[in-house]
Amino acid sequence: MKVSNMQNTYTPKIPSFSSNARRTLNGLAPNFTYFFRNDFQWKSFAAYLNRKYNGLNSVNIYNAACSDGTEAFTLAISLISKLGKDAAKKFFPIKAHDINESLIVDAKSGIVPLLPFPYSLVDLYMIKLKTLFRDSRYMTFMKHNGKRSVKINDEIRRNIDFKAGNIFSEINNMERKNSVIMTRNMWMYLGDSGQERLAKRLGERFDESCLVTIGEYDVNASRAVELLEKNGFEKTYVGNVFEKMK
Ligand SMILES: C[S@@+](CC[C@H](N)C(=O)[O-])C[C@H]1O[C@@H](n2cnc3c(N)ncnc32)[C@H](O)[C@@H]1O
Repeated sequence: MKVSNMQNTYTPKIPSFSSNARRTLNGLAPNFTYFFRNDFQWKSFAAYLNRKYNGLNSVNIYNAACSDGTEAFTLAISLISKLGKDAAKKFFPIKAHDINESLIVDAKSGIVPLLPFPYSLVDLYMIKLKTLFRDSRYMTFMKHNGKRSVKINDEIRRNIDFKAGNIFSEINNMERKNSVIMTRNMWMYLGDSGQERLAKRLGERFDESCLVTIGEYDVNASRAVELLEKNGFEKTYVGNVFEKMK
Protein backbone atom coordinates (compact mmCIF):
# COMPACT_ATOMS: atom_id res chain seq x y z
CA MET A 1 0.00 0.00 0.00
CA LYS A 2 2.82 2.36 -0.88
CA VAL A 3 1.87 5.87 -1.89
CA SER A 4 3.39 5.30 -5.33
CA ASN A 5 0.92 2.45 -5.96
CA MET A 6 -2.19 4.48 -5.28
CA GLN A 7 -4.07 6.64 -7.76
CA ASN A 8 -5.57 8.96 -5.16
CA THR A 9 -3.16 10.10 -2.53
CA TYR A 10 -4.35 12.03 0.46
CA THR A 11 -2.64 14.95 2.14
CA PRO A 12 -4.45 16.57 5.07
CA LYS A 13 -5.68 20.04 4.04
CA ILE A 14 -5.44 22.48 6.89
CA PRO A 15 -5.83 26.26 6.42
CA SER A 16 -2.44 27.97 6.73
CA PHE A 17 -3.59 30.53 9.32
CA SER A 18 -4.78 27.97 11.80
CA SER A 19 -1.87 25.70 10.96
CA ASN A 20 0.60 28.44 11.90
CA ALA A 21 -1.39 29.37 14.96
CA ARG A 22 -1.49 25.77 16.13
CA ARG A 23 2.22 25.41 15.55
CA THR A 24 2.89 28.45 17.75
CA LEU A 25 0.53 27.21 20.44
CA ASN A 26 2.08 23.75 20.40
CA GLY A 27 5.47 25.37 20.94
CA LEU A 28 4.10 27.22 23.97
CA ALA A 29 2.20 24.26 25.41
CA PRO A 30 3.96 20.94 24.85
CA ASN A 31 1.03 18.86 26.16
CA PHE A 32 -1.40 20.48 23.75
CA THR A 33 -3.85 18.06 22.15
CA TYR A 34 -7.53 17.85 21.21
CA PHE A 35 -10.12 15.29 20.21
CA PHE A 36 -10.01 14.13 16.58
CA ARG A 37 -6.95 16.33 15.99
CA ASN A 38 -7.49 17.26 12.37
CA ASP A 39 -3.99 16.56 11.09
CA PHE A 40 -5.06 12.94 10.81
CA GLN A 41 -7.82 11.05 9.00
CA TRP A 42 -9.10 8.98 11.91
CA LYS A 43 -11.76 6.97 10.09
CA SER A 44 -9.59 6.36 7.00
CA PHE A 45 -6.88 5.17 9.36
CA ALA A 46 -9.31 2.75 11.05
CA ALA A 47 -10.31 1.37 7.65
CA TYR A 48 -6.65 1.10 6.61
CA LEU A 49 -5.77 -0.84 9.78
CA ASN A 50 -8.69 -3.17 9.17
CA ARG A 51 -7.48 -3.94 5.63
CA LYS A 52 -3.78 -4.21 6.45
CA TYR A 53 -4.30 -6.57 9.36
CA ASN A 54 -7.16 -8.57 7.84
CA GLY A 55 -7.01 -12.19 9.02
CA LEU A 56 -5.05 -11.51 12.24
CA ASN A 57 -6.56 -12.03 15.68
CA SER A 58 -4.45 -9.46 17.44
CA VAL A 59 -2.65 -6.22 16.52
CA ASN A 60 -0.50 -4.13 18.87
CA ILE A 61 -1.23 -0.42 19.00
CA TYR A 62 1.23 1.71 20.98
CA ASN A 63 0.27 5.32 21.56
CA ALA A 64 3.49 7.11 22.54
CA ALA A 65 3.21 10.67 23.91
CA CYS A 66 -0.50 10.20 24.61
CA SER A 67 -0.73 13.40 26.69
CA ASP A 68 -4.03 13.45 28.67
CA GLY A 69 -5.38 10.42 26.79
CA THR A 70 -7.32 12.36 24.18
CA GLU A 71 -5.49 10.71 21.27
CA ALA A 72 -6.04 7.14 22.48
CA PHE A 73 -9.72 7.89 23.23
CA THR A 74 -10.09 9.35 19.73
CA LEU A 75 -8.59 6.24 18.15
CA ALA A 76 -10.73 3.84 20.21
CA ILE A 77 -13.88 5.78 19.24
CA SER A 78 -12.81 5.83 15.57
CA LEU A 79 -12.13 2.08 15.51
CA ILE A 80 -15.43 1.17 17.16
CA SER A 81 -17.55 3.60 15.15
CA LYS A 82 -15.92 2.69 11.81
CA LEU A 83 -15.40 -1.06 12.20
CA GLY A 84 -17.98 -2.03 14.83
CA LYS A 85 -17.25 -3.47 18.27
CA ASP A 86 -16.38 -7.00 17.13
CA ALA A 87 -13.93 -6.04 14.37
CA ALA A 88 -12.33 -3.37 16.56
CA LYS A 89 -11.61 -5.84 19.38
CA LYS A 90 -8.34 -7.17 17.98
CA PHE A 91 -6.76 -3.69 18.23
CA PHE A 92 -7.45 -3.44 21.99
CA PRO A 93 -6.15 -2.73 24.49
CA ILE A 94 -4.34 0.27 23.02
CA LYS A 95 -1.13 0.62 25.04
CA ALA A 96 -0.60 4.33 25.73
CA HIS A 97 2.22 6.12 27.54
CA ASP A 98 3.53 9.61 28.18
CA ILE A 99 6.67 10.83 29.90
CA ASN A 100 4.58 13.23 32.01
CA GLU A 101 3.17 11.30 34.98
CA SER A 102 0.50 13.83 35.92
CA LEU A 103 -1.00 13.59 32.42
CA ILE A 104 -1.27 9.84 32.88
CA VAL A 105 -3.20 10.36 36.13
CA ASP A 106 -5.66 12.52 34.12
CA ALA A 107 -5.82 9.98 31.29
CA LYS A 108 -6.60 7.14 33.67
CA SER A 109 -9.42 9.16 35.25
CA GLY A 110 -11.13 9.38 31.83
CA ILE A 111 -12.04 13.02 32.54
CA VAL A 112 -10.58 15.40 29.97
CA PRO A 113 -10.81 19.19 30.39
CA LEU A 114 -11.94 21.11 27.31
CA LEU A 115 -9.38 23.49 25.77
CA PRO A 116 -8.92 26.69 27.76
CA PHE A 117 -8.19 30.25 26.63
CA PRO A 118 -6.18 31.21 24.49
CA TYR A 119 -6.75 28.15 22.32
CA SER A 120 -10.39 29.10 21.93
CA LEU A 121 -9.19 32.11 19.90
CA VAL A 122 -8.16 29.87 17.00
CA ASP A 123 -11.38 27.88 16.88
CA LEU A 124 -9.96 24.72 18.36
CA TYR A 125 -12.51 24.88 21.12
CA MET A 126 -15.26 24.69 18.50
CA ILE A 127 -13.54 21.82 16.74
CA LYS A 128 -13.56 19.97 20.00
CA LEU A 129 -17.23 20.69 20.59
CA LYS A 130 -18.23 19.66 17.08
CA THR A 131 -16.46 16.36 17.33
CA LEU A 132 -17.98 15.76 20.73
CA PHE A 133 -21.48 16.29 19.38
CA ARG A 134 -20.82 13.86 16.53
CA ASP A 135 -19.64 11.07 18.79
CA SER A 136 -21.40 12.17 21.97
CA ARG A 137 -22.62 8.69 22.89
CA TYR A 138 -19.06 7.91 23.98
CA MET A 139 -18.71 10.96 26.27
CA THR A 140 -20.65 13.07 28.74
CA PHE A 141 -20.21 16.80 29.39
CA MET A 142 -19.48 17.71 32.99
CA LYS A 143 -17.71 20.19 35.28
CA HIS A 144 -14.62 18.88 36.98
CA ASN A 145 -12.60 20.98 39.43
CA GLY A 146 -14.45 24.02 38.08
CA LYS A 147 -13.44 23.29 34.45
CA ARG A 148 -15.73 22.31 31.61
CA SER A 149 -14.72 18.73 30.84
CA VAL A 150 -15.86 15.52 29.21
CA LYS A 151 -16.05 12.14 30.86
CA ILE A 152 -15.20 9.26 28.55
CA ASN A 153 -17.67 6.39 28.84
CA ASP A 154 -16.45 3.06 30.22
CA GLU A 155 -17.09 1.33 26.90
CA ILE A 156 -14.17 3.35 25.48
CA ARG A 157 -11.99 3.66 28.59
CA ARG A 158 -11.67 -0.06 29.19
CA ASN A 159 -9.94 -0.47 25.81
CA ILE A 160 -6.88 1.55 26.77
CA ASP A 161 -4.02 0.80 29.18
CA PHE A 162 -2.26 4.00 30.27
CA LYS A 163 1.14 4.20 31.94
CA ALA A 164 3.92 6.73 32.49
CA GLY A 165 6.97 6.06 30.31
CA ASN A 166 9.66 7.40 28.03
CA ILE A 167 9.46 6.22 24.45
CA PHE A 168 13.16 5.32 24.45
CA SER A 169 12.63 2.66 27.10
CA GLU A 170 9.08 1.70 26.13
CA ILE A 171 10.19 0.80 22.62
CA ASN A 172 12.25 -2.11 23.99
CA ASN A 173 9.04 -3.79 25.23
CA MET A 174 7.07 -3.38 22.02
CA GLU A 175 6.30 -6.37 19.78
CA ARG A 176 8.42 -6.38 16.63
CA LYS A 177 5.58 -7.60 14.39
CA ASN A 178 2.04 -6.42 13.66
CA SER A 179 2.61 -3.24 15.62
CA VAL A 180 1.39 0.31 15.09
CA ILE A 181 3.49 2.94 16.83
CA MET A 182 1.85 6.35 17.16
CA THR A 183 4.50 9.04 17.68
CA ARG A 184 2.33 12.03 16.88
CA ASN A 185 3.36 15.62 17.55
CA MET A 186 6.25 14.68 19.82
CA TRP A 187 9.36 14.60 17.60
CA MET A 188 10.29 18.26 18.03
CA TYR A 189 10.54 17.80 21.79
CA LEU A 190 13.30 15.21 21.37
CA GLY A 191 15.98 17.52 19.93
CA ASP A 192 18.05 16.66 16.88
CA SER A 193 19.98 13.74 18.35
CA GLY A 194 16.81 12.35 20.01
CA GLN A 195 14.98 12.42 16.68
CA GLU A 196 17.83 10.57 14.97
CA ARG A 197 17.94 8.02 17.77
CA LEU A 198 14.17 7.44 17.68
CA ALA A 199 14.07 6.94 13.89
CA LYS A 200 17.01 4.53 14.08
CA ARG A 201 15.39 2.50 16.89
CA LEU A 202 12.07 2.33 15.01
CA GLY A 203 13.89 1.16 11.88
CA GLU A 204 15.85 -1.51 13.77
CA ARG A 205 13.05 -2.81 15.96
CA PHE A 206 10.07 -3.21 13.64
CA ASP A 207 9.51 -5.36 10.56
CA GLU A 208 7.42 -4.74 7.45
CA SER A 209 4.18 -5.64 9.22
CA CYS A 210 4.49 -2.42 11.25
CA LEU A 211 3.34 1.18 10.89
CA VAL A 212 4.47 4.48 12.41
CA THR A 213 2.22 7.54 12.57
CA ILE A 214 3.22 11.19 13.02
CA GLY A 215 1.37 14.53 13.19
CA GLU A 216 1.29 17.82 11.33
CA TYR A 217 3.52 19.47 13.90
CA ASP A 218 6.16 16.76 13.35
CA VAL A 219 6.02 17.40 9.59
CA ASN A 220 6.41 21.18 10.02
CA ALA A 221 8.79 21.46 12.93
CA SER A 222 10.95 18.33 13.04
CA ARG A 223 12.95 16.00 10.81
CA ALA A 224 10.54 13.08 11.35
CA VAL A 225 9.69 12.50 7.66
CA GLU A 226 13.29 12.65 6.43
CA LEU A 227 14.53 10.43 9.25
CA LEU A 228 11.76 7.83 8.92
CA GLU A 229 12.45 7.54 5.19
CA LYS A 230 16.17 7.22 5.88
CA ASN A 231 15.46 4.36 8.29
CA GLY A 232 13.31 2.18 6.04
CA PHE A 233 9.79 3.66 6.23
CA GLU A 234 7.66 4.89 3.32
CA LYS A 235 4.55 7.06 3.16
CA THR A 236 1.25 5.24 2.72
CA TYR A 237 -1.83 6.69 1.03
CA VAL A 238 -3.17 7.74 4.44
CA GLY A 239 -1.56 11.05 5.37
CA ASN A 240 1.05 10.92 8.15
CA VAL A 241 1.08 7.10 8.22
CA PHE A 242 4.34 5.34 7.33
CA GLU A 243 4.89 1.67 6.57
CA LYS A 244 8.12 -0.23 7.21
CA MET A 245 9.63 -1.63 4.00
CA LYS A 246 11.53 -4.94 3.61
C1 LIG B 1 2.00 17.99 21.79
S1 LIG B 1 1.75 16.62 22.85
C2 LIG B 1 1.15 15.43 21.68
C3 LIG B 1 -0.10 14.78 22.13
C4 LIG B 1 -0.75 13.84 21.11
N1 LIG B 1 0.16 12.79 20.71
C5 LIG B 1 -1.25 14.59 19.91
O1 LIG B 1 -0.71 14.43 18.80
O2 LIG B 1 -2.19 15.37 20.05
C6 LIG B 1 3.43 16.05 23.13
C7 LIG B 1 3.54 15.04 24.25
O3 LIG B 1 4.81 14.38 24.14
C8 LIG B 1 5.18 13.95 25.43
N2 LIG B 1 6.60 13.52 25.37
C9 LIG B 1 7.69 14.32 25.14
N3 LIG B 1 8.82 13.58 25.14
C10 LIG B 1 8.44 12.28 25.37
C11 LIG B 1 9.16 11.05 25.48
N4 LIG B 1 10.50 10.99 25.38
N5 LIG B 1 8.46 9.91 25.69
C12 LIG B 1 7.11 9.94 25.82
N6 LIG B 1 6.38 11.09 25.74
C13 LIG B 1 7.04 12.25 25.51
C14 LIG B 1 4.86 15.18 26.27
O4 LIG B 1 4.79 14.90 27.65
C15 LIG B 1 3.52 15.63 25.66
O5 LIG B 1 2.42 15.10 26.38
